[in-house]
Amino acid sequence: MSDLDDVKAEFLKTLDGAKAAGEAEKLRTDWLGRTGRLRKLTEDLGKLPVEQKKLRGKAINDLKVALEAAIDERLKSLSGVKAAPVDPIDVTIPGARPRYGRRHPVYATMDEIRHIFEKLGFEAAYGPEIETAYYNFEALNIPLDHPAAEPFDTYYLDDPDAASRPYRYLLRSHTSPAQMHVMESRKPPIRVVVPGKVFRTDPADASHLPVFHQCEGLMVDEGVTFADLKGVLAIAAKELFGAKTETRFRPSYFPFTEPSAEVDVTCLLCGGGGCPACKGSGWIEILGCGMVHPRVLEYAKIDPAKYTGFAFGMGVERVAMLKLGVPDIRHFIRNHPLFLRQW
Ligand code: PHE
Repeated sequence: MSDLDDVKAEFLKTLDGAKAAGEAEKLRTDWLGRTGRLRKLTEDLGKLPVEQKKLRGKAINDLKVALEAAIDERLKSLSGVKAAPVDPIDVTIPGARPRYGRRHPVYATMDEIRHIFEKLGFEAAYGPEIETAYYNFEALNIPLDHPAAEPFDTYYLDDPDAASRPYRYLLRSHTSPAQMHVMESRKPPIRVVVPGKVFRTDPADASHLPVFHQCEGLMVDEGVTFADLKGVLAIAAKELFGAKTETRFRPSYFPFTEPSAEVDVTCLLCGGGGCPACKGSGWIEILGCGMVHPRVLEYAKIDPAKYTGFAFGMGVERVAMLKLGVPDIRHFIRNHPLFLRQW
């Protein structure tokens, strides 16, 4: 019955070519199904004499069993092998949108402040974040035994040579030391803004961070008066917070300015009527300022008889919180994407 062997060989060859379960499964119908190849062999049995019919019938049956087994075997080895998709690229699936980064709200605010003063003729300048106690305090007329110079408020940098030097290194606690660097390196007329990081040993809470940002301003020339200071800050406040914004100067004290003032702007939320954000007063404090103290000019070797100047220092996070309606300063350093993506 070599013809059956031929059938088997042909089948196995075809089965070998089946690359997916579906193809192997189809061979079962094509060969063993009701109209399959083996059906013809069974039909022909009827024409044979009884003895031969028995033998051939069994042989055909064995063949069927062998083919079924071969198919099952093949299916097992193909399982897990999926048919290749018709087109591996589905051009109808919406694309993955790239997420764009953006400027941090604190830096965006700092840029905005700097830009407003640039339009008023102030040039950006930068001072070091590591200062000496001279620049951070003494040159600004703050005695080294002043409470602000205490290690309690200031990050002094550990330095084994500290005792052998006249001034210790520290992280600047305000941007005001940059005033002195600028006055030492250029002659009046001077108009600069100094944005940058400052450091204080304040524990973080809703309105304090140990690292935050300020924007310093300094103008020194012949005949600069407090009226110039008021005019510049009134314009800057309107640019920063909106045309309806009013400014209010309250007498204050800083060792490096005389007279000194703190400046409030009309509350952005209530427009001055009084609300929880401004504690009912209608005003919110945004900066400290004053006329540069004559002793500070002397330290910088600028003649206080000829020149006068004003200076101010603005808290950048403070301004950003007001402008953006951020209730807690710590959001700026948590940097949650949902927070940052708002602006
Ligand atoms: N340096 C002061 C502070 O950090 C602010 C200030 C700057 C006040 C310039 C007057 C003039 O509080």
